[in-house]
Amino acid sequence: MAWKTLDDMDLSGKVVLVRVDINVPVENGVVTDATRIEKIVPTISDILEKGGKPVLLAHFGRPKGKVVPEMSLKPLVPALEAALGRKVTFAEDCIGGPAKKAVAAMQPGDVVLLENTRFHAGEEKNDPELAAGMAALGEIYVNDAFSAAHRAHSSTEGIAHILPSCAGRLMEAELKALEAALGTPQRPVTAVVGGAKVSTKLDLLGNLVSKVDNLVIGGGMANTFLVAKGIEVGKSLAERDMAETAKEILNKAAAANCRIILPVDVVVAREFKAGAENETVAADACPADAMILDAGPETVAEISAVFENSKTLIWNGPLGAFEIAPFDAATNAAAKKAAELTEAGGLISVAGGGDTVAALNKAGVAEAFSYISTAGGAFLEWMEGKELPGVAALNK
Ligand code: 3PG
Repeated sequence: MAWKTLDDMDLSGKVVLVRVDINVPVENGVVTDATRIEKIVPTISDILEKGGKPVLLAHFGRPKGKVVPEMSLKPLVPALEAALGRKVTFAEDCIGGPAKKAVAAMQPGDVVLLENTRFHAGEEKNDPELAAGMAALGEIYVNDAFSAAHRAHSSTEGIAHILPSCAGRLMEAELKALEAALGTPQRPVTAVVGGAKVSTKLDLLGNLVSKVDNLVIGGGMANTFLVAKGIEVGKSLAERDMAETAKEILNKAAAANCRIILPVDVVVAREFKAGAENETVAADACPADAMILDAGPETVAEISAVFENSKTLIWNGPLGAFEIAPFDAATNAAAKKAAELTEAGGLISVAGGGDTVAALNKAGVAEAFSYISTAGGAFLEWMEGKELPGVAALNK
């Protein structure tokens, strides 16, 4: 790896600016899923152990360069304190007087959280002046925000060019897991790509067919592929105008020797609601007045067989309308199979993306996967084969 880690840095007595992603769901001022907060604890603990003074830089929501009180990071302090088991001092700005004052008062063992970097218009423009203002607060920069690394912002990219920089423990873990899954994987590699629309995952599908041995396509986007093969899908969600593009992906896959797995049977219903009356039919027999809401058991059996013959699995997107039972059945069954194989030691399984993690949690198998990424958009861009600016800046 070209990037440095905390092990390569002398942190003793130094102020360490740590870019974290604590963009967590909050309802009525209370954090409803603290995963991203818990995941940065090893990095902060390590910095403290090495005698460094961690100062956290983070964004929250999309305030678009203005101070939006509802998007302050201050309400996250209690959740951060609970995860770290120590007091966290909050500074009302990420540059200038308030930040300098909080940093100057730090004693060994203290942690400071700076206000939302996106309250400054310069952040999203990667303004060098803003980056310099942040850099002026410390001596070392640690990027632990893989999930924000697809943004070339002052706090994720610009600052890495000013201070000696390295990856935090979470960034390191994410990069290693992703490299193992798609960079230099153990073959055969299988990817599962699901979700509603082909149009949002075009680059991803295009990149994957040249990298993986098997590609399972599920969810609404599978319907578009069925249409591309001349199959009628009734009232199902399908992007008919993307049929030609889907055909091109199928051709590219054939040329690259990538096997595409599409549903062979499907669960159809007339209503999109939990518990709706449904039936399982062959994939080419969706009634004109019905819609496909899940893959059927034969498809799941085929996917399971593919998993059994794989050494690496990379998963993004559910296979059906997993939010509503019983249309979560295929996603749950395939996820359980992947979990079993992983636990038995035969499969390396990596998953990422908001819906995917929710689906795996719902299936109760997330813990069994080899690695679950904290990233949404960054995971997708990485699967698309794009360079992530936040990571590239560490490689300089
Ligand atoms: C995320 O939640 O995926 C990251 O925090 C990035 O957020 P953004 O899409 O607003 O840049």
